[in-house]
Amino acid sequence: MKILLLNGPNLQLLGSREPGIYGSNTLQAIVDETVALGRELDCEVVAFQSNIEGELVSRIGNAKVDDFDGIIINAAAYTHTSVALRDAISAVALPTIEVHLSNTASREEFRHHSFIAPVCTGVIAGFGKDSYLLALRAITAKIRREKE
Ligand code: DQA
Repeated sequence: MKILLLNGPNLQLLGSREPGIYGSNTLQAIVDETVALGRELDCEVVAFQSNIEGELVSRIGNAKVDDFDGIIINAAAYTHTSVALRDAISAVALPTIEVHLSNTASREEFRHHSFIAPVCTGVIAGFGKDSYLLALRAITAKIRREKE
């Protein structure tokens, strides 16, 4: 099994970015832990971060050709703005989980709406780095169930 882990804008700053909200883990530490859990779950996790919307759109669009079984995405601020990401997720039609470190529902009003949630399999938010680990467990279980 192969899972694409996408991280959007400003997440390269994790560790020093608003630690009261996002915690003190760097993105690399979160990715490393998710990749390690993937090994336990017999699943290859391939991570990509970009601040550029179109690069994320292209990675999603190529996900089937690139042999991925599912996608975990923290689209960061593009969650709340991007029709292009929503259309890409909808078009590629792979199991996709939206994740957030913070609980976006308890923050500013503009973070309450997600353009991508309606085309995702599910959303996990508010658990810091555990949001990624929970998402990996959930998506691998779902894909395995569907393959049975
Ligand atoms: C975030 C929440 C978004 O609202 C914000 O724009 C981010 C990070 C999170 O992981 O909590 O950049 O996606």
